[in-house]
Amino acid sequence: MVKTNDIISWHYPRADLAAGYLDTLQAGLISSMVLFAPRRKGKTEFVLDDLLPAAEAAGYRTVYCSMWQNRSDPLASLLLALTNAAKPKTFGAKLQDKLFRPIKKTSLEINAGMIGKVKAEAEFHARAANSQAALQSLPELVDAVLDASKGKVLIALDEIQHLAKPEFQELVAALRTTLDVRKKSVKTVFTGSSRNRLQMMFSQIKAPLFQFSQTTDFPDLDERFVSFIMASFAQATGRKVPLAQANAAFAALSNTPGLFHDAVERLMKIGGTDILAVAQLVLDESRDASGYVQRLMEMRPLDREVMRAVIERVPLYTDDTRRRLALAVGIDEEPLTTRQVQIAVERLVSEQIIYQAGRGVYEIEDDQLAEWLRDSPELIGNGEPGDV
Ligand SMILES: Nc1ncnc2c1ncn2[C@@H]1O[C@H](COP(=O)(O)OP(=O)(O)OP(=O)(O)O)[C@@H](O)[C@H]1O
Ligand SMILES: [Mg+2]
Repeated sequence: MVKTNDIISWHYPRADLAAGYLDTLQAGLISSMVLFAPRRKGKTEFVLDDLLPAAEAAGYRTVYCSMWQNRSDPLASLLLALTNAAKPKTFGAKLQDKLFRPIKKTSLEINAGMIGKVKAEAEFHARAANSQAALQSLPELVDAVLDASKGKVLIALDEIQHLAKPEFQELVAALRTTLDVRKKSVKTVFTGSSRNRLQMMFSQIKAPLFQFSQTTDFPDLDERFVSFIMASFAQATGRKVPLAQANAAFAALSNTPGLFHDAVERLMKIGGTDILAVAQLVLDESRDASGYVQRLMEMRPLDREVMRAVIERVPLYTDDTRRRLALAVGIDEEPLTTRQVQIAVERLVSEQIIYQAGRGVYEIEDDQLAEWLRDSPELIGNGEPGDV
C-alpha cells in the first residue's frame, strides 16, 4: 500500500557538485559560470535545492530569477527578485521566495491564487517602470542586495538563453556592466537550455561578463540518482524494481530526470514494477504531447518550406531560395516574390514559431522542435502543392 510520502525524499542531493561550483567562484579567477544542459535535465532543481542553499550556508545572500518567467519583460522579474532579496529575511520574505520558484512542469499542487498575485505584482512593476528608468535601477538594486548581505551575493539567472533575443540587448549590456564592476562580491551563475542560443549570445556580446565566465556542461545524473529514486519508490510503495531495469529506463529516457520522474510517478499509480514499459510510454507521450506533428501538419506548405530553410540556415530571400519555395508549393514558372516570402516569415514570427536572431537571420523558437527537425527533416513533410 502507498504510504504517505511527505517523509520520503524525492530530491537527490548534489552537494559535491554545488560545493565544486562555489569553490570555483570563491577562488576568484572567474566571477560567473554558465551551466548548460538540455531541457528537464535538472538545472533548476539543482540551482534551487542544492546550489543556492549551499551558498546561503556559506554566507552568501542569494537571488534567483528565471528570464523566462516574464517572457516579454525579464527585467521586471529581475528587479522584483532583487527587491525581494534586499529585504530582511523574515518569514514572509522566505514565503515570497518560495512563490518565486518556477512552476514544476509536473506539479499538480499549484496554488493558483498566490501565483496570480505575484504575477500581477510583477506586471505592475513592468508597467510602472519605463524601461530606461528600470534599467538604471538595476545597479542600485544589486547594491541594495549587497548592503543587506554579509558582503557576498550569488545571483542565479535561469533560462538565460531567452536574453539572446535582439530586443534584450540593452538589458544584457546593463547586466554586464552592473555585474562586472561588482565581480569581487557579486557572483553569477547562468543556466540555459540551448547551447545554440547561448553560443549566439556569447558571440554577439564579446563582453567582460562572458569573458570571465566559465562555460560548463552541466553533468548528467547517473546511476546513484536512479538508486536513490528507486529507494524512495520502494519506501513509498513497498515494491522493488530491479535496479538494472531502472538504469535501462533512465538510459532510454536520455538520462533525463524530468522524464524519469514522470515514469516513476506513473508506475506508482498503475502498480507493478515494469519501469521499462512505462518509460517507453512516457517517451512516446512526451513526443506526442508537444503536439509537433499535429502542428506541422496543419501548417501551410509555404510556411513549412520556410521553416525548412530556417533549419538549414539558407538565406531566405535569394533567387535560389525563392525559386525553391515556389517549386515546393507547386509553381515552377517563376520564383516567389520577396513580399510573398516575407508574408510567410511574418506569419511564423507572429505565431512564435520562429524569431529574428539578427538581420535576415531567423531561428526556430522552440529548441526541442529545432533539434528534432534537424534530426529528422522528413517530418517537415513534402510541401504539398496547394495554398501559398
Ligand atoms: N536532483 C534531483 N533529484 C530528483 N529529481 C530531480 C533532480 N533533478 C531533477 N529532477 C527531476 O527532474 C525534473 C526536471 O528538473 P528541472 O526542472 O530542474 O530541469 P531543467 O533542466 O531546469 O529543465 P528546463 O530546461 O526545462 O527548465 C524535476 O521536476 C524533478 O522531477
Ligand atoms: Mg529549468
